[in-house]
Amino acid sequence: MSAPAPPLDEALHRALREHQAGRLEAADRLYREILDRVPDHADALHLLGCLYLQRGQAAAGGALIERAVAQAPDQPAYHNNLGLAYKDTGRPADAAAAFRQAVTLAPDYAQALVNLGAALTLCGDHHSAIEAMERAVALSPASAEAQNELGHALAEAGRRHEAVAAFRRALELDPNLAPAHNNMGNLLRLLQRPAEAVAAYQAALKIDGSVAHYHANLGGAYFESGQLEAAWDAYQQALARARALPEALNGLGVLLHKRGDYEQAVARYREALKADPRHVDALNNLGNSLKMIGRFEEAVGHYREALSIKPAHADAQFNLGMALYREEDLEPAAADLEAALAAQPEHENARFFLGTIRNQQGRVEESLDHFAALARLPRPTDHLVDSWRYAWGHRGANTRFLVQRFEVLEQGFRLARPEGLVLEFGVLFGASLRFIAGLTDQEVHGFDSFSGLPEAWGNKPAGFYTTGGALPEVAPNARLHAGYFEDTLAPFAAQHPGPVRFMNVDCDLYSSTRTIFEVFGPRIGPGTVIVFDEYLCNPDWREDEFRAFQEAVVRHGWTYEYLAFNLQGKQASVRITG
Ligand SMILES: C[S@@+](CC[C@H](N)C(=O)[O-])C[C@H]1O[C@@H](n2cnc3c(N)ncnc32)[C@H](O)[C@@H]1O
Repeated sequence: MSAPAPPLDEALHRALREHQAGRLEAADRLYREILDRVPDHADALHLLGCLYLQRGQAAAGGALIERAVAQAPDQPAYHNNLGLAYKDTGRPADAAAAFRQAVTLAPDYAQALVNLGAALTLCGDHHSAIEAMERAVALSPASAEAQNELGHALAEAGRRHEAVAAFRRALELDPNLAPAHNNMGNLLRLLQRPAEAVAAYQAALKIDGSVAHYHANLGGAYFESGQLEAAWDAYQQALARARALPEALNGLGVLLHKRGDYEQAVARYREALKADPRHVDALNNLGNSLKMIGRFEEAVGHYREALSIKPAHADAQFNLGMALYREEDLEPAAADLEAALAAQPEHENARFFLGTIRNQQGRVEESLDHFAALARLPRPTDHLVDSWRYAWGHRGANTRFLVQRFEVLEQGFRLARPEGLVLEFGVLFGASLRFIAGLTDQEVHGFDSFSGLPEAWGNKPAGFYTTGGALPEVAPNARLHAGYFEDTLAPFAAQHPGPVRFMNVDCDLYSSTRTIFEVFGPRIGPGTVIVFDEYLCNPDWREDEFRAFQEAVVRHGWTYEYLAFNLQGKQASVRITG
């Protein structure tokens, strides 16, 4: 004979005691016993639903709480917890409606107001979100969480300085609130203060090192503050905790792109997109890496996809504009650049290139207006306008203004003298050498240390751009010559007589470019085409490849014409004329 069942109240108390003590299995069993006796017992349905939420089974929890709400529609807590279930199952609008119902029933329910604000932020209704948060803060001025959510809503609404103040207050109230440190980091990055963002994420991680996206965010802040190795490590830490975290995969892609490893960057972006097909930054970045390896049409498709998801994505709009750039009809590109500026008036590249396009179109006043706006941006941009003025001022009758690096290489090769050596200086992972080798059946020669730059260049340390000593796969007509130019060029030249037909100079440094001209200067003559990959647009462009070439021009008494400028790719292409 089994013992008689306790009265319902007592049974519920017993279940609740187990639940509050964290003994979820026992509580689950006891709630179910009550529901076996009274299937519509509202409290048991609600509490069992909450237990499911705690276990991460939000859909099942939500279904139970919906049944509780049907039985007792006037319980604010039921609506609040139903909102949490909806939020956890990716239904922010339903969540907001549930939280709103909780607040309608209990206007002083501060936690429900916080939840309502967070749900409204997710829905993009920033104005209502801030209103809810301000009410929550007024009701519980000592709640760090309320301040944190208010900050988040303010940040999302673009009220960044007020958001900083809210996060500060949250952290004064509770210095151990890791999400507030993380939110502060996100905001500092938006305010272009990456070093402070690093400190904020580090503080979040000190409190809770298990959160993968804090690590990924730290990676982003390291990247923006130029600490690329630390960024790499932070992304790896993130992936160790969440194997397919799109932010971390996207971040690794950006690093690989910066290292010149475009194929690997493409692979990482594709992984990020597998995890989140609507990751607009990964789509945009994928476009950029594909463009660098000449997969132009695919790149355009990805920019368009990014824009279909987020129409005001200024970078994607800019990239699409540059992809649509045609010298013979500049208006489509200009329209996209205008759109990028409408989305983000301080977009440096959109402003600069729109200035150059208006100049090309003869709309000089507009061009000057854009350059003046550029000069008002916080970051120094003089080198950009200086580069444009140089390029425009040194154009000849046949100089083309291009924006695709392979187009510059193709045009240069086509217009070079018909025979002679074909050389590339700076091969790295082989992207441009593979393209050049595809233009001809003759042997092409690529020179690289494959252990990176021999000295620091700009903010890149010595050793940057390394393949770790590995030689890239190249076409059968390409020969690789590994080692520093100082050691490899002279012996090669001794064994390979004759003039230079075409060379791609992509070694960035003044000293390396000078070495090239010391060895091959006497082989360069009328019809030789030289494409430089970092000729202008860098802050110190007049001190790098440009300077080494100009010195060689004086030394050898060459005359030359510019065949093309590609200011986006920083390239210039010259043909020696005498
Ligand atoms: C920007 S990367 C080349 C990128 C490559 N052309 C591409 O399409 O991806 C520059 C390369 O120049 C090489 N380099 C620069 N100075 C060098 C030198 N003095 N000797 C050997 N390699 C050098 C670096 O090792 C690096 O791989």
